[in-house]
Amino acid sequence: MNMIFDQEMCTQCGICTEICPIGIIFQDAQNMPYVPDNMGYACTRCGNCEAFCPEGAISPLFKIEHSVPDDAVLPDITPEQLGLYMRKRRSIRNYKDTIVDRATIENILDIVRFAPSGVNNQPVHWLIVHDPEKVKDLTRLTIDWMREIVASDTPNPIKPVMQGLITAYENGKDPICRGAPHIAIAHAQEDNPMAYTDCIIALSWLELAAPAFGLGACWAGFLKMAATSYKPVIDELGLPEGHVVQYAMMFGYPKYDVCNIPGRLPSRTIWK
Ligand SMILES: Cc1cc2nc3c(=O)[nH]c(=O)nc-3n(C[C@H](O)[C@H](O)[C@H](O)COP(=O)(O)O)c2cc1C
Repeated sequence: MNMIFDQEMCTQCGICTEICPIGIIFQDAQNMPYVPDNMGYACTRCGNCEAFCPEGAISPLFKIEHSVPDDAVLPDITPEQLGLYMRKRRSIRNYKDTIVDRATIENILDIVRFAPSGVNNQPVHWLIVHDPEKVKDLTRLTIDWMREIVASDTPNPIKPVMQGLITAYENGKDPICRGAPHIAIAHAQEDNPMAYTDCIIALSWLELAAPAFGLGACWAGFLKMAATSYKPVIDELGLPEGHVVQYAMMFGYPKYDVCNIPGRLPSRTIWK
């Protein structure tokens, strides 16, 4: 833990003490903040103290290039604008062949890495299948997985739809990755029980950020199932030792524009 309070910049306002989620920042007799030696280990490096210090008196807990520069002023986004942006998000299942350049994908991942994670654990790793031919391989292998299940007595919750997907594939369609040029796979340590939720949050951020870059995305549920149970897909992905696929998402440039927002159920809410 390498939190440093700048003695000259600090105004002893106490905000850092108040907002630290772990409660390890105290104030001494002069109201100067400090972390007791035996408590530093508990810091999750969430950066809340750094984020809320009005004087910028707390040293970045991560390297400086990870911090937002002082002059980055957020333009006002109205609830209406944000609501329209979020409601217009759609699962995109038709893509142009255009390749998304790596820099654009890196820019999106550079946003997504700021997504929340349990105790700021940040367990999410990415595999970007950038080569469209390799995406086609994943579709082919997922269809092979379905063929094996259909031909066997193995129960599977999606078995009833598998034959239809196989037939669509045999008719030249891609019902698994939908002809997307790229796949994003969020993976993490298999023995981390919290990683799944964190990966889902990260992928949700990716899907939501995509339209701002002119991109569209769609969760790849069938691929995820094959990638967590069928050895040829697992081998094809070749994740680091001990890592498993938590979920997958296809993405690329949408072939069609979103023109309307379809209806959804009203919120079902209990108030107390
Ligand atoms: C966990 C999850 C898995 C999904 N898997 C697939 C999939 O394998 N293929 C597909 O075409 N759509 C998939 N979808 C997209 C849903 O069908 C879609 O979100 C739903 O129909 C609502 O449409 P919308 O996302 O445009 O609002 C998945 C969505 C979620 C959240």
